[in-house]
Amino acid sequence: MTIKFSRRRHLQGAAVAAASALLPFSASAQAGASPAAARFAIGQDDFLLDGKPFQIRCGEMHFARVPREYWRHRLQAIKAMGLNTVCAYLFWNYHEWRESKYDWSGQRDAAEFCRLAQQAGLWVILRPGPYACAEWEMGGLPWWLLKQPGDAFLRTRADAYVQPARRWLREVGRVLAPMQATQGGPILMVQVENEYGFFGEDLDYMRMMRQALLDARFDVPLFQCNPTNAVVKSHIPELFSVANFGSDPATGFKELAKVQRGPLMCGEYYSGWFDTWGAPHRRGSADKAVADIQAMLKANGSFSLYMAHGGTTFGLWGGCDRPFRPDTTSYDYDAPIGEAGWIGDKFNAYRDGIKPLLPAGETLPEAPARMPVITIPAFALQESAAVMANLPARAISDVSPKPIEQYDISRGLVAYRVTLPAGPAGVLAAAKVRDLAWVFVDGKQVGTMDTRHRRFKVALPARSKPVTVDVLLYTIARVNFGVEIHDRKGLHGPVTFTPQDGAPQPVENWAIRAIDFDADGALPPLDWKRGRAQGPAFWRGSFNAAATGDTFLDMSSWGQGIVWINGRCLGRYWSIGPTQTMYLPGPWLKRGRNEVVVLDLTGPRTARIAGLAMPVLDQLHPELDLARPPSTAKLQLDGVAPVHAAEFAPGSATQTVMFAAPATGRQFCLESLSAFDGKSYAAVAEIALLDKAGKPLNQSSWTIAYASSEEARKEDGSALNAINGQNTDYWHTAYSGAAASAPHPHRIIIDLGKAAEVAGLRYVPRQGTDDVTGRIKQYRVYIGDQLVTGN
Ligand code: GLA
Repeated sequence: MTIKFSRRRHLQGAAVAAASALLPFSASAQAGASPAAARFAIGQDDFLLDGKPFQIRCGEMHFARVPREYWRHRLQAIKAMGLNTVCAYLFWNYHEWRESKYDWSGQRDAAEFCRLAQQAGLWVILRPGPYACAEWEMGGLPWWLLKQPGDAFLRTRADAYVQPARRWLREVGRVLAPMQATQGGPILMVQVENEYGFFGEDLDYMRMMRQALLDARFDVPLFQCNPTNAVVKSHIPELFSVANFGSDPATGFKELAKVQRGPLMCGEYYSGWFDTWGAPHRRGSADKAVADIQAMLKANGSFSLYMAHGGTTFGLWGGCDRPFRPDTTSYDYDAPIGEAGWIGDKFNAYRDGIKPLLPAGETLPEAPARMPVITIPAFALQESAAVMANLPARAISDVSPKPIEQYDISRGLVAYRVTLPAGPAGVLAAAKVRDLAWVFVDGKQVGTMDTRHRRFKVALPARSKPVTVDVLLYTIARVNFGVEIHDRKGLHGPVTFTPQDGAPQPVENWAIRAIDFDADGALPPLDWKRGRAQGPAFWRGSFNAAATGDTFLDMSSWGQGIVWINGRCLGRYWSIGPTQTMYLPGPWLKRGRNEVVVLDLTGPRTARIAGLAMPVLDQLHPELDLARPPSTAKLQLDGVAPVHAAEFAPGSATQTVMFAAPATGRQFCLESLSAFDGKSYAAVAEIALLDKAGKPLNQSSWTIAYASSEEARKEDGSALNAINGQNTDYWHTAYSGAAASAPHPHRIIIDLGKAAEVAGLRYVPRQGTDDVTGRIKQYRVYIGDQLVTGN
């Protein structure tokens, strides 16, 4: 593919009149340059490095996701793949987990990462937030911001957000402004915020964040990134714009050309995609990526691969997709440099694709050798400590439970205890439960609550005397995307008990005890016993290593929880998959005895672990998930009149449709009658619903009430993808298994949580070139309270 665009390229070659060719946002990059400094600027058609045109061939790697001991190794691999720049997010909450206590040591040493990049011959693009996204806990925002009230103040100009955000950026400047190219360091450009166009409309907020970076002494060019579809609406002249996409560079570059004169750059080109627990492992095609990279380079464009090397979301830093789909610990991303730094066919394809397009005289170094790998024979974890028997003595008393942030609990296990009088059977219900909870009556488990399905209640048996009810809550991750980042954890009151045939009664006077895992997975003191504890428990065992090396812990016989190795929190596991192993880096092992602690909420089938020589990233086991009441969903569309019927326009552009008259209801149904490619499938990247003013409705209480079918094996075609705010993934009707041959109509029904007035719809078609499958042509819309009944 070649990208055609019509702009004149008159600034090629060395004789560039740099100053007059610069765009306004580059001017400050020249200011205060020290003698050793490089001059990096944004020209009319090119990036200019010391006055000469420079194409940025960048790849993303997050130092928090790679053991520090391996940073150099991975940077060398990035260089060897044909890249000249590394792009790095900073995650605010990683450096300021407790307010005003900054940490830049060890694994968090961003300045050292920049120095190593420079030594490896790489420039750096820095993305300090304040918001990052990146499948990271709360998108990088610190949880303590949620002590403030409100569901719409993050990423706005509200003081409660802006003041701490400014302080953070000032701190970033203190540590990293000296690493800018203007001061002899490797940092070429700094990104302001992240894909704000996906989130909001207030461009003065972007101006404010830009100013905060200027105040923090950043004097290299500042830029913003947005998905292709949001470039135009989010652009401000003070910031250079780049476009994020995983396909169709021509359209991405065309959108950029609409808003500015300047070099063309893809800010995130998706080499693969992230995984969420319970959904199939994602892959990205190397052939398509190489074709797109070559097309961008030939069009004099620049790019940054997201990810060049994904690594691992160690510890408890994993994020969560909206509405609530927690991300796996492995952040392999199907990137060309694999989770453990391994390179193979994909890496070679990228390198071979870039090589012929390198500037004259540039050669690529060889890739560094693979790190040693060891296996560990299966060993037993013979000691255990029941969670409920190891709670701290100190309890917080409250009439009705509030979100845990109000109690200064950051994350972890929170146990709620209350006494319930004698009485008939009934239902215990909370207003909300984030994330999972196990409910016990006098120590016996009676059910679970599960935010993935908005299941906030459990049935309790009849009681002949007062009983103790315990709710053990486990926080997994705060959502990192969309307005759902206001994700307060815990059991949210009011809690009620509704006896059979009775009215709801408040359940009050709770004792709350927490094991706060804090920033780095702090373990509480535990009273270990030999043998198997009942219910949720910690487990302990050890193994001897004759030599250290990388290995992959096989967690497939466990339930779900967290692993620590020699006191260091490795991350979360969940045997529903798709990840079944955990990458354990060699430098975190010792020769001789190594201690392993596991928290398992549901209990292992066998309490043994082995270290394998290969990762297992793609095995789903839905049968191991928490039990769920069977689905009784029944479609009730017969005789219901559509609110709107029409044809979508062809192509990948976002489409806004207003109905002849608004309609009110709790459920919204999009029905496909045909697809542009004439095939029998339907796919949707995103659906947003609009109010009368054309503004999107808040989606934070939405669930999928029904989908005709979903592709669940060959790829993740889950219907949730249509309401998760990500344009890149999509709902896709089944093309494998029993439902594969079903013709149109296909339906997706969204439950809005409560009745709402809907005046229109914003539809993002499945992205990619025009031959993608499933783009809907004719469609109908229904709105009502009972389009689907049952659960
Ligand atoms: C967006 C964000 C990234 C990351 C990707 C998905 O493009 O900018 O931080 O979340 O999506 O991996």
